[in-house]
Amino acid sequence: MTPTAPQLRRSLLDWYDQCRRELPWRAQPGEVPDAYAVWLSEIMLQQTTVATVAGYWRAFIDRWPRVEDLARAAPDDVMHAWQGLGYYARARNLHACAKHVANMHDGRFPADEALLRGLPGIGDYTAAAIAAIAYGRPAVPVDGNVVRVLARMHALPTPLPAVRTHIMRLAETLVAADRSGDFAQALMDLGATVCTPRRPRCPACPWRVGCAALAGAARPPRRHGRVPVDPLA
Ligand code: ADE
Repeated sequence: MTPTAPQLRRSLLDWYDQCRRELPWRAQPGEVPDAYAVWLSEIMLQQTTVATVAGYWRAFIDRWPRVEDLARAAPDDVMHAWQGLGYYARARNLHACAKHVANMHDGRFPADEALLRGLPGIGDYTAAAIAAIAYGRPAVPVDGNVVRVLARMHALPTPLPAVRTHIMRLAETLVAADRSGDFAQALMDLGATVCTPRRPRCPACPWRVGCAALAGAARPPRRHGRVPVDPLA
């Protein structure tokens, strides 16, 4: 039987409680997340791996513990501290955003996705990530990992732009007001550690029941059927 949205949500969150990655910017269970710390991690993670970001994130937080500290930093110091992360427009936008939040928002990042999208360096994905992770808003940051997970769940062909819109709608039907930050991070972790591009670890997946790609992979191929784009590569 196909699991319902609440069942999928529950099984993913239960899995996350057991298997979540310990990442330095993540609030511990019961802790209130710091929007500045979340924002900083999301900007760094835009084009850089988790492993590389960890050290840079710690160095920035130690040197500039609050958004006001970063706002007051000399531009050269910020650029220098960013060295090695690449994509230097991110560092310039980071500094501009810190100044904007410090001066125009009283040092508090907005919780609303539309307001977040108006800040330098924050696009759709980052706005959704901050809204969900820092403020518990029912938003789902949809990146390539999340597209892959949901496309497999529903056996959708992945390269089509129209499918992406459909997947964003699907993601919205899954998220709830309760623990939406954990839900977003659980989807990220599932895509990064279980539902990987190649050789996914399906036996370890909390969504193996109900995954159309997994069910399809277990069936003998049909001679004249449509060829799935990602038969669990
Ligand atoms: N990639 C983008 N945002 C992330 C996050 N908060 N945790 C892990 N990977 C991410």
